[in-house]
Amino acid sequence: MKRTLLKTDDGSFTLHIPEWNEQYHSKHGAIAEAVHVFIKEGLYHWLSENTISKISILEIGFGTGLNALLTYLEAEKHSWNIDYTGVEAYPLGEEEYRKMNYSEMLETSDEVFLKLHNATWEEKATISNNFQLLKQQRFFSDISAENNFDLIYFDAFGIRVQPELWTEEIFAIMYGALKPKGILVTYAANGSARRAMQAVGFTVERLPGPPGKREMLRGTK
Ligand SMILES: C[S@@+](CC[C@H](N)C(=O)[O-])C[C@H]1O[C@@H](n2cnc3c(N)ncnc32)[C@H](O)[C@@H]1O
Repeated sequence: MKRTLLKTDDGSFTLHIPEWNEQYHSKHGAIAEAVHVFIKEGLYHWLSENTISKISILEIGFGTGLNALLTYLEAEKHSWNIDYTGVEAYPLGEEEYRKMNYSEMLETSDEVFLKLHNATWEEKATISNNFQLLKQQRFFSDISAENNFDLIYFDAFGIRVQPELWTEEIFAIMYGALKPKGILVTYAANGSARRAMQAVGFTVERLPGPPGKREMLRGTK
């Protein structure tokens, strides 16, 4: 499917899929959305509830690598030890990820961003002493991890274009992949996603959303 570059309201780029009229991130700010949903309400929240500073994260949709880069920067800043798994069925090509302006916007060298993208699929890569990355090329429905993750960044395309990813079947896989007390955060707030999460066992909170969105969801196992 064709993907084109789009500048969002905070100046950071995202990818646009014309065929679906869908973006990889919010048009109101790709970085602003990722920081609010995944870093603040996900990573910071989990670390505020747990005394250890070692955390394993599963990202649903590695995509542009923005969430991995932001998480890496937090790991470096706070000396947190992060084991990061990114699952993705349709990886970006080099000509696509090289156009993203996240390193520039986040005032960091492009070296790490390229290291994240150049890491070999299916092999654990040591990006730094604090950050390990495993990229797995597969469909979300094929995730078989059990009791393995503290935190899931659920960053699939929206329910309008991929309703099959916002179902009890997928959330049951997510629930199984989390350790007890693990959490899942997503930018979405629609009622059917919330009900599907509750049906498989999550305790779900509705939280204030990122710019341009009233609410988002966090589920706890
Ligand atoms: C909303 S984008 C977000 C990507 C990423 N988190 C980012 O910040 O760029 C959703 C991602 O899920 C991937 N994807 C869509 N359907 C999938 C499926 N069934 N299994 C695995 N990956 C899928 C897409 O290719 C895309 O990279």
